[in-house]
Amino acid sequence: MSSQLTGLFDDERVIVLATALDDAAVERLSPREAAATTRMREKRLREYATGRALAREGLARFFGLRDFDLLNAEDRSPIWPERVAGSLSHCDTRAWIALVERSWGTVGIDGEHRAELKRDLWRHTMLPEEIAALDALDETIRGRHALALFSAKEALYKAQYPRSGQFMGFHALHVALDEDRLICTFQQDVGPFERGFVARGRWRVTDEGELLTAVWIEGP
Ligand SMILES: CC(C)(COP(=O)(O)OP(=O)(O)OC[C@H]1O[C@@H](n2cnc3c(N)ncnc32)[C@H](O)[C@@H]1OP(=O)(O)O)[C@@H](O)C(=O)NCCC(=O)NCCS
Repeated sequence: MSSQLTGLFDDERVIVLATALDDAAVERLSPREAAATTRMREKRLREYATGRALAREGLARFFGLRDFDLLNAEDRSPIWPERVAGSLSHCDTRAWIALVERSWGTVGIDGEHRAELKRDLWRHTMLPEEIAALDALDETIRGRHALALFSAKEALYKAQYPRSGQFMGFHALHVALDEDRLICTFQQDVGPFERGFVARGRWRVTDEGELLTAVWIEGP
């Protein structure tokens, strides 16, 4: 059973669905989706299949698009229906999708099921000023905020990729966050985005304890 989450995106036209990982979803893959899974191990297969079930449900319920097969391009990015902008994330407990009309903009969602981002990963994924901002926080929330910052970069990556088609490294983006909001500022030109471009987002810890981030880029 999926549940609809509200308040993660500022605009409620962006639909967010969540569901627990489900082994039974593997049986419900379409033949074309199943054909992509031959080399997947059990955990990945469960995540992949749960994501497809959620996408199929969301596209049918909210966009009237029935029996859509969510396949991936060679670069692993998901191929959504032309009129829909979507984003998908899964971890070892749950899968989430965000969906909106493509004419509204593009979206990114990312879920993480861990308590914090370990310090030895900070330098690889963060700018010196982001690390300084984390160090200024109370120790009790620092690791959690570090994870939110990391997750926000992945969500932003998913929101920008349909527009740029370009890889973006972790140091190409600056993220500032407070208790529930994100400000993502490009540090270099990427595709149609100029250095200084700002995308906004939100983050929260779910009732089940996962950390969830959402980023949106409005406009066609
Ligand atoms: C693509 C990436 C962001 C996925 O994040 P993840 O934490 O590994 O995994 P998640 O479960 O959250 O998301 C996986 C989903 O992302 C989607 N995805 C993969 N590549 C994508 C892309 N280029 N654009 C948009 N979505 C993409 C897929 O739908 C995938 O699920 P699927 O394989 O079942 O279809 C990550 O693997 C990656 O490559 N990161 C490096 C680039 C980056 O994040 N840079 C930061 C820039 S500021």
